[in-house]
Amino acid sequence: MALLLGACATTSQPGGSLYRQFGENEGLTALVDDLLARFADDPRIAPKFANTNIPRFRRLFVEHLCKVLDGPCTYTGDDMREVHTGLDISEAQFNAVVEHLIDAMQARGIPRTAQNRLIARLAPMRKDIIYR
Ligand code: HEM
Repeated sequence: MALLLGACATTSQPGGSLYRQFGENEGLTALVDDLLARFADDPRIAPKFANTNIPRFRRLFVEHLCKVLDGPCTYTGDDMREVHTGLDISEAQFNAVVEHLIDAMQARGIPRTAQNRLIARLAPMRKDIIYR
């Protein structure tokens, strides 16, 4: 019975629960650090960040993920279309970033269902990011 009630509590706050499954702010920061290391090692991605203030990007990326996961954050960056305009990001580069994200989530032991929910929320942003 306690288990059932627990399940109810979770479904009534699905977003909060998703943010928790990513380890809240600490987990998201670790995930983004892992991701940044993967970007730096990938010649398809790294050149795009040549002129980027990485500490700022790191902070904004954590905020953005937190918001997408319905966590208690305010995203203080610009909208996705504006940010990626002029970067001329290809579909292959977008897919490479998503693959790194999946590998990083896997490496951090994030449950597969939570991984899929994040990817499903990011996928619609694709049109604002590629070929801008
Ligand atoms: C769903 C996928 C993506 C999300 C959610 C995302 C999110 C973000 C966020 C939150 C920022 C910071 C916003 C700001 O500066 O105000 C940012 C900046 C940036 N993103 Fe993305 N991004 C995605 C895909 C990509 C891809 C595929 C690339 C390139 C391969 C890329 C390259 C960049 C670069 C270079 C910046 C920094 C721009 C600058 O220096 O001003 N992003 N992105």
